Amino acid sequence: MCGIIGYIGEKQAYPILIDGLSKLEYRGYDSAGVALLDEDQLEIMKSVGRLSKLEEKIGEQVPFGTMGIGHTRWATHGRPCDMNAHPHSDCTGEYVVIHNGIIENYQALREWLKTEGHLFRSETDTEVLAHLVEQYFRGDLKAAVRQVLEKVSGSYAMVVMSERDPGRLICARKDSPLVIGLGEGENFIASDIPALLKYTRRTIILEDGELAEVSRDNVTVERCGQLVTKEVFNVEWDVVAAEKEGFEHFMLKEIHEQPKAIRDTLRSRITADGLVNLAELNLAEDEIWQLRKVVMVACGTAYHAGLVGKYVFEKLLRLPVEVDVASEFRYRNPLLGEDTLVVVISQSGETADTLAAMRLAKEKGSPVVAITNVVGSTVSREAGRVIYTWAGPEIAVASTKAYITQLIVLYLLALQIGQSAGLIPEAEIMAMTAALKKLPMDVAGIIEKEDVIKEFASRIKDWEDTFFIGRGLDYAVALEGSLKLKEISYIHAEAYPAGELKHGTLALITENIPVIALATQPDLYEKMWSNIKEVKARDAYVLAIVNEGDNETGKEVDDVFEIPATNPIFTPVLSVIPLQLLSYYASVMRGCDVDKPRNLAKSVTVE
Ligand code: AGP
Repeated sequence: MCGIIGYIGEKQAYPILIDGLSKLEYRGYDSAGVALLDEDQLEIMKSVGRLSKLEEKIGEQVPFGTMGIGHTRWATHGRPCDMNAHPHSDCTGEYVVIHNGIIENYQALREWLKTEGHLFRSETDTEVLAHLVEQYFRGDLKAAVRQVLEKVSGSYAMVVMSERDPGRLICARKDSPLVIGLGEGENFIASDIPALLKYTRRTIILEDGELAEVSRDNVTVERCGQLVTKEVFNVEWDVVAAEKEGFEHFMLKEIHEQPKAIRDTLRSRITADGLVNLAELNLAEDEIWQLRKVVMVACGTAYHAGLVGKYVFEKLLRLPVEVDVASEFRYRNPLLGEDTLVVVISQSGETADTLAAMRLAKEKGSPVVAITNVVGSTVSREAGRVIYTWAGPEIAVASTKAYITQLIVLYLLALQIGQSAGLIPEAEIMAMTAALKKLPMDVAGIIEKEDVIKEFASRIKDWEDTFFIGRGLDYAVALEGSLKLKEISYIHAEAYPAGELKHGTLALITENIPVIALATQPDLYEKMWSNIKEVKARDAYVLAIVNEGDNETGKEVDDVFEIPATNPIFTPVLSVIPLQLLSYYASVMRGCDVDKPRNLAKSVTVE
């Protein structure tokens, strides 16, 4: 996600752009930039780092101009640096663009534009948009942008401005949000409502496929070249509520963003014929064949993603996988080498223990692959190979969409290795990628039932001890569910392999104590049923997470929540959702600080 702002009116644009960007930094903050048009002079200023760095860089040399555009970046293509910051311009500097999204065919466009004589300065996908405008401009900026949109594929919220056609901003959206704010003798464009509220509450929400022309006194919107009439919405939110898009907490907003996060992480990594295209892996077939072991290293929730990865890799690739918490791994003198692939997983890419583990793996000669959500993070710069989760900024301390997209990347990684080495038949890969593409809809369907889960939360919120049990993949998810509950509701939550209960923990199972039982693995149903009977025999309250169509497990328990049927290997993506929501609502009901729980930080950059 990135933050976009545009202004055209009678006031000096610069302070309005900076103020708007400051309200959008939660959407991305690794670099920022503005472009202003004064008379027919275009000026661009941009800087790596937070918005404050841009302001420092500009200092007293505040640029003039009553129209302009601004951008805060969350990098997807091209590391954070001055040159990769937006706005981007064409060869002449007469056309500027800001963009939120991913231009999937940017490489091909870049190569073609080079043959047309265009010179590129940045590593970004966005810059191709500016050169395409230059390529197609024949006096009418809107006509040029129409042609650009016919050439590009992917997702975009974009704003274009040119000194060759002053007096109007052209903007368009597909899969990334864009809002127009209506003023008196002035108009605004933004990726999100918080940037507008200081100036106007009258808004037009652009829809996918729409293109708008915004001048000081007029806004026109078209779709496929035909003018459309748009409804004007009056926004009732305050700024803080608007940053959360009306959700009470960032965590709930990020839970709801998970379908999009999965789609974005899958985007352009599954080919039209259903095979995997994880180009970033960059492991040759002979390097794959020399692998004898995989080690996954991470902390907290990322570690739990690694546990799912273990099951997936061992099932699909029959490759031994060790999973270790980074704080243990780094001090146990692990057995590594060029035959051991080390996968480090880190949302922030800055966790101290995980960084140390990665550096140790490199010292010992192991190939390293990093899975991270932050472009330009330390782990992404040092790992050698990096595969991004495109979840967008995760603000809540409790990780949700990052975890889900870590799972998606681990599935893609296993399938890519299996595909490259011929270990998995193509037909099986196609069936699995088809199932992966269905997950966003399945996740959305679960989230729609959040009121049911809220009711379950009311039944556990007053307990100080709870248990999560599961077998196989369900045990890995039980661990993640227990971490979510304890870290945001402060209820002690212990996850246990269901088969282990009789070896001690059963002594703690007393009347009505909450036990969350995950039973999604068909080959383990029978065993789970006996474990559920064990705890029911001690009168525990049992909430079971089961597959649609499983009419047996529900007979044994107090409450049951069904997840859509999918390939059993993918159920962690679905079974974790009710656990995230259960934890969220228990935390809210207990009056906890959901987004910033006590004693915790979003990224643990110290030992
Ligand atoms: C997860 O909800 C926690 N916030 C925490 O366990 C987190 O997953 C862990 O600190 C690892 O962070 P990273 O993914 O940024 O390395």
